[in-house]
Amino acid sequence: MTTVIDGKAAAASVVEAVSAAAEKLETLGHRRPGLAVVIVGNDPASHAYVGAKSRMAKQCGFNSIQHTLPEDTAQDDLMALVASLNADPEIDGILVQLPLPKHLDSDPVIQSILPEKDVDGLHVVNAGKLATGDMDTGLVSCTPAGAMILVRQIHGKDLSGLNALVIGRSNLFGKPMAQLLLAANATVTVGHSRSRDLPALARQADILVAAVGRPEMVKADWVKPGATVIDVGINRIDAPERGEGKFRLVGDVAFAECKPVAAAISPVPGGVGPMTIAMLMANTVIAAYRRAG
Ligand code: GUN
Repeated sequence: MTTVIDGKAAAASVVEAVSAAAEKLETLGHRRPGLAVVIVGNDPASHAYVGAKSRMAKQCGFNSIQHTLPEDTAQDDLMALVASLNADPEIDGILVQLPLPKHLDSDPVIQSILPEKDVDGLHVVNAGKLATGDMDTGLVSCTPAGAMILVRQIHGKDLSGLNALVIGRSNLFGKPMAQLLLAANATVTVGHSRSRDLPALARQADILVAAVGRPEMVKADWVKPGATVIDVGINRIDAPERGEGKFRLVGDVAFAECKPVAAAISPVPGGVGPMTIAMLMANTVIAAYRRAG
């Protein structure tokens, strides 16, 4: 029987631990963890994610602040907001939701966040710590950190001898995911749009992680029998049968056909998605403890 990995349950236990840690911080005489989430523009998917992050932060007992800026926000104004959040003693974590509108350059914005408040783990200092194996003093990007917890549920901490393929090479996910798998002793390949034969690479993988943003791209004949498949894609597909303007979410993996081949597979929704938000809460409480000393 294939294990369908329950990301909601895993996320719930992370959130429970985070809430308890946040409460303890207050009993130690410190203020609650503070998380600022910044969103620019009107992208409905981004608003849905940010709303979920803000709600979860409140549920964890955090001081949760959302800054919603108009679509035509100037680069300097966004940078000024980040600077003020950097200087705000009540704020432990800053997240600027990506992608930003096209006229804005995300890189200087992200790099202007204080590394110790960079709960997204995207600052070069945090990316560099991860790349050099410092797992203790930086902050790790939330989606790969969450995906890694799901991998560990199946395989334990040590991935020695296992082949892992990460499809996708973004700074937000593919690169940090590869680093985490490598740090756990997996033999890691990173595949991407310029790779010659992704299906052949995938068939070698004991752990197959898909993060490409292409609906149901990974087919059953890509999956090594008995593999663990982690689906990081969240794709909105029109679903007129559900009514005008309705959509449904599918991953990068054709779930129904891959499930019987895999030994374990994460669904969409209900797999990696809930873990991303849970790990954002975990990073925020970690940042708050470090600031509290
Ligand atoms: N957009 C999609 N996922 C993420 C994320 O994890 N962090 C940020 N900042 N933006 C995103």
